[in-house]
Amino acid sequence: MADLPAAPRINPSILAADFVNMQRDLAKIASADFAHVDVMDNHFVPNLTFGPQMVERIQATSPIPLDVHLMITDPDRWAPGYAELGAASVTFHLEAASDPVALARRLRSIGARAGVAVKPGTPADGLYDILDEFDQILVMTVEPGFGGQGFMGETMPKLRGLADEAKRRGSSVWLQVDGGIADSTIEIAAAAGADTFVAGSAVYGADDVEAAVTRLRELARAASLES
Ligand code: DX5
Ligand code: ZN
Repeated sequence: MADLPAAPRINPSILAADFVNMQRDLAKIASADFAHVDVMDNHFVPNLTFGPQMVERIQATSPIPLDVHLMITDPDRWAPGYAELGAASVTFHLEAASDPVALARRLRSIGARAGVAVKPGTPADGLYDILDEFDQILVMTVEPGFGGQGFMGETMPKLRGLADEAKRRGSSVWLQVDGGIADSTIEIAAAAGADTFVAGSAVYGADDVEAAVTRLRELARAASLES
């Protein structure tokens, strides 16, 4: 991507969209930064969404680039296909990958931003020495699998640790949070160092989707300036 959006980035999760009105619901988030696409395989997580064929159509239809979040077993095998279909970023789970660095390199070689995600209970300090291998790190703020869950504040020390480490190393890695991000929680995550925010129900549950994106962005900006 030539022009990357500046922080704070707001990535609405289309898990909260109407799946049979996907084109209409993608159009609603044109002012956001990336469309967050949750791929679930009913194995890594106990829920099932869609696979490459649907994501290819979403890619062709979305007014903004795709941020694909793979909650799947064996990403070493499947993740490159999402980069090949044109997703701007592809994030796989650290818990599921057998060779995270090799996979990140492969995603980058195809032209995608490479992301790695950690579940709430997974430590992130093992990533400190390999931060430069990734373009973004996703700190899950709920257990992956479902939208509409409550934000887990206990994940914030891990996020802060990553933010401190990235700063210390002069890394430009993006720090993303996903799960329970809303008006009432986004400032907490921004103050702890997040610069990229996934929000599903807070965006698609709003009467005015565009206004919800603007408000989340303003809250995050104010909180990151203060911290
Ligand atoms: C959960 C997904 C999230 C989900 C977030 O496993 O990774 O992207 O859509 O939904 P909200 O914002 O409703 O918590
Ligand atoms: Zn997600």
